[in-house]
Amino acid sequence: MLLIGDGLRSQDWFGRPLEGFAYRSWMKRGLPDDAFDGRPIIGIATTQSDLTPCNSHVDEIAEHVKRGVWEAGGVPLVFPTTSLGETQIRPTAMLLRNLMAMDVEESIRGNPMDGVVLLGGCDKTTPAQLMGAASVDLPAIMVSGGPMLNGRYKGRELGSGTDVWNFTAEVRAGTMSLEEFGEIESCMTRSRGSCNTMGTASAMACMSEALGIALPHNGAIPAADSRRLRLAHLAGRRIVEMVHEGLTMSQVLTRSSFENAIRVLAAIGGSTNAVVHLLAIAGRLGVELTLDDFDRLTRESPLLVNLRPSGEHLMGDFFYSGGLPTVLHHLRDILDGDAATVTGRPFSSYADAVAAETADHDVIRPLDNPLKAESGIAVLHGNLCPRGAVLKPNAATPELMTHRGRAVVFESIEDYDARIDDPDLDVDEHCVLVLKGCGPMGYPGMPEVGNFGLPKKVLAKGIRDMVRISDARMSGTAYGTVVLHTAPEAAAGGPLAVVRDGDMISLDVPNRSLTLEVSDEELARRLKLWVRPDPEYTRGYYRLYIDTVLQADQGCDFDFLVGKTTRPVTRDIH
Ligand code: FES
Repeated sequence: MLLIGDGLRSQDWFGRPLEGFAYRSWMKRGLPDDAFDGRPIIGIATTQSDLTPCNSHVDEIAEHVKRGVWEAGGVPLVFPTTSLGETQIRPTAMLLRNLMAMDVEESIRGNPMDGVVLLGGCDKTTPAQLMGAASVDLPAIMVSGGPMLNGRYKGRELGSGTDVWNFTAEVRAGTMSLEEFGEIESCMTRSRGSCNTMGTASAMACMSEALGIALPHNGAIPAADSRRLRLAHLAGRRIVEMVHEGLTMSQVLTRSSFENAIRVLAAIGGSTNAVVHLLAIAGRLGVELTLDDFDRLTRESPLLVNLRPSGEHLMGDFFYSGGLPTVLHHLRDILDGDAATVTGRPFSSYADAVAAETADHDVIRPLDNPLKAESGIAVLHGNLCPRGAVLKPNAATPELMTHRGRAVVFESIEDYDARIDDPDLDVDEHCVLVLKGCGPMGYPGMPEVGNFGLPKKVLAKGIRDMVRISDARMSGTAYGTVVLHTAPEAAAGGPLAVVRDGDMISLDVPNRSLTLEVSDEELARRLKLWVRPDPEYTRGYYRLYIDTVLQADQGCDFDFLVGKTTRPVTRDIH
């Protein structure tokens, strides 16, 4: 039992005969008196919002969590948190991830709850909830909203995000009409739920399962499949037990959990965004995790899951082929089976949840027939990225993994928009496109523009990929030979800031290097001459963000939010 003094944390509000009057009276509203006499109070953090279409259904999930909580003897109380719709929020949802995490943290800390069920879905909602809850460190379970059903157009399965990039390139190349493009728009989003590719939302739902902070099968059950509601019901039951056991987030999320999750990230072909999110969550718990851990741990994992953007299939196919437990079963020899989980049983038990139905061996490959023998996240080093940069080999063109080319530089996304299709732009497919000003501080918020499109005149030759380098992120549904998260970013005075048109750049992924071919003296001279631009934002949240955000290699959290919590309880009202 999670005790504060001689009772549950919530009893610090409800358990005092005299001072508890206001707390109890205002909350009763039909609840019986014994709701507040020492039963675990379970918060259910909902991210339902019509402006977060991927999470628009999570209130139904909340209802099923409630059933499980009541059944187990707890009292469920739903509360809203900030919700971030990836496709809607400007300038980028990542700018607001930390704001949402602060909201989640203080909503949990400030309210009478003993445990919390976190309802996420769209990309940033999962990491923000995990970050915020980790900083309070109560018992917690993540329940994801689940992916949408496969879209379909003229017999072709449509993958959200990934096919938008494909078709956009076709329209720009003149091989698809705008009418057809518009028709596809209505076919892609077929049901409730988050993106049906192995994008960031799916990857973070799978990461929650691989971390042991969600129940088995959380990663892949489609939003429209009633087994998602059963999972919610079971989570409601289990969170009450966790409160009785005093099983808090920091007891579940250890270094072993993160190592397991990183290995799984490689096997599922998960998003590069998971790198910044896992670093940030670990930072909240005081778990040592570095960018280089991703390179080391993912090199040992093969790519087993054949989903877009790394492969062919979609999330529904993944679930009906066995889902994440099947992957864990295949990886059991390289995972730490003793890692803790919210079930109270060791992580090895998650592989026991393998579905009885026949697995499709093309969707989830066995170890002896992986999609790729080496997978995951390549972490690059060199004079262009002294604190690292990342590239997702699964999503890149093999022939470009070792490449030397002339830099064509864009100082900002606006500069890129203005010139990329200029017929006079001196560029061909052998060049390296460089985009600055899209890092955490620079944009601000590190938007998903790292897979910025190729020049029209290159596309017209039938070329669909070039080496691109930026301090931006990339959507988990995107692909290309793109170097992302270059740190320090240009706006922080990293070497990226002083790359010039015509410089030669060499990328050597097998040897994990990214080199700007100028002498050390010349690079030092340019950096000395570099002048930090005047800040565009001088007030409000943007100002706080720019002043305190950490670089990508540290997870882009705010510097003052990193570290283990020391304040699980809040003061009484005065
Ligand atoms: Fe919400 Fe992809 S846009 S999950």
